[in-house]
Amino acid sequence: MTASPVEHSHVPHFSRRRRLAENRYIRDRWRDFLSVDHRGMMTIEGVPVDRIVKKYSTPVYVMVESKIRRNFRRFKKVFGDKIKLQYAVKCNSNLQILRMAREEGFELDCSSVGEIILGLLADFKPRQLSYTNLYKTEQDLHFAVKMGVQSITADSIEDLWHIAETAKKLRTQVRTVIRVNPMIEIRNYSTKGNKYGIPLKQVMEAVEIAAKSPFVDFRGFHFMGGYIYSPWTLRSSARVLVNIIRECQDRKIPIKTLSLGGGFPAAIGDQSEFPVEDLTSFPKYFQRLLDRSGVTIPIQLIFEPGKSIVLHAGVGLMHVVANKEIHHRNRMIIADGSTYNFIPDALVQSEVRYDILPASKMFSPRVHKVTVGGNTCDCWDLITKGIEMPKLEAGDILAGMDVGAYAQVLANNFNTIKRAPVVLIHENGTLKQIRRRDRYSEMFAPELDVLKMADPNELEYYNNLYRVNIDKIWKGQGKKNGAAKGK
Ligand SMILES: Cc1ncc(COP(=O)(O)O)c(C=O)c1O
Repeated sequence: MTASPVEHSHVPHFSRRRRLAENRYIRDRWRDFLSVDHRGMMTIEGVPVDRIVKKYSTPVYVMVESKIRRNFRRFKKVFGDKIKLQYAVKCNSNLQILRMAREEGFELDCSSVGEIILGLLADFKPRQLSYTNLYKTEQDLHFAVKMGVQSITADSIEDLWHIAETAKKLRTQVRTVIRVNPMIEIRNYSTKGNKYGIPLKQVMEAVEIAAKSPFVDFRGFHFMGGYIYSPWTLRSSARVLVNIIRECQDRKIPIKTLSLGGGFPAAIGDQSEFPVEDLTSFPKYFQRLLDRSGVTIPIQLIFEPGKSIVLHAGVGLMHVVANKEIHHRNRMIIADGSTYNFIPDALVQSEVRYDILPASKMFSPRVHKVTVGGNTCDCWDLITKGIEMPKLEAGDILAGMDVGAYAQVLANNFNTIKRAPVVLIHENGTLKQIRRRDRYSEMFAPELDVLKMADPNELEYYNNLYRVNIDKIWKGQGKKNGAAKGK
């Protein structure tokens, strides 16, 4: 763990108080980068969060580089060099994180042309990008084919025909993968209601279409099963897919690849998860399955982890702006972030309770229940409900934990509020901004471009007015009245 730079020997009982605070608020999964300084202020990689919010204002996301890299390396260690790993861009598409994925030896799983372009901007080669989604336009296919991506996934029979027909128009062959819904059910887990993939009973029909089309270079299969609760679900899907591969082999249709997608667990709040290390035996299990089924052609296995790499590396810092007493045992804390603009997953997965920590009062015990309300004018905008917190007041700092995945990418401009910046913190405590706050000009552009209701000067006038340094005006006023003397 990184030592806090503000640990002073003259502070009595500091170590004990810090240990108490850490035990009270800090879960094991954050211990390698989170601590508390002598004031009870949360530190990330040794940097007190009040320093971070002073520099970047709130709300702000902090992404912890060491945690992300460690997670990339854990996957590499578990799956070895023989299994291809493709980071799922959708869960956090920041260019700096994509660059880290490349440095750590990952390829990319892209779900749109936009994500393919981001991959190219992060210096991936087109052959390192696979393109998997449910529908693409002719324009999308043209672009992906012209770029030469690794493969394009057909999610339905219609999608497969669409790929074949577009390839014919382009007079080319498209490297194509068929996405399968294996229709498995195991304990509480089932893919039967999933929207992804071609249902098992139609798969061989799709295979025949792909294998017979001169415009389809049929490569293999893909499976994405949503959230994986146990290693058994992966084993179970692998069994079904290996049977399909065997059937293809019998029909003399060669298969080269099998992707078993993402969905590796990563806990939010007190959810439980199994560590990726529980899959250490999977590569051997898969090889045994192939051997037992008599599959003799080599199959390139692929995984596409997303949230399990970045979720726990994200901390969302906000300020408390109000504390309203609803009942003597229940308070409404208003933060300057929201579910819409900052932690949208809190709204999407309403059954999940995010950990919100009292980042500037880590020495204070939990004394009463609070609901943390977001700052938008919408009554559903509650970041978390019924969590025990210390007494908080306006100006205190809150840390929304586990916001590294599906937060920055889902955040929107509801209430015409700017989305927050993202700061990367290195292991040595240096900070690097990797995304700035939105600008009004870019938020309004899609309407102003077509409605032509304002010219750039008009927009600039409002922008400049907004950006005026209120502090300077205030101090200036004070001097005039003689009130700010000595300040
Ligand atoms: C095709 C595909 N691969 C990978 C992922 C990543 O999943 P996760 O972030 O749960 O690992 C997704 C997520 O929806 C997906 O659709």
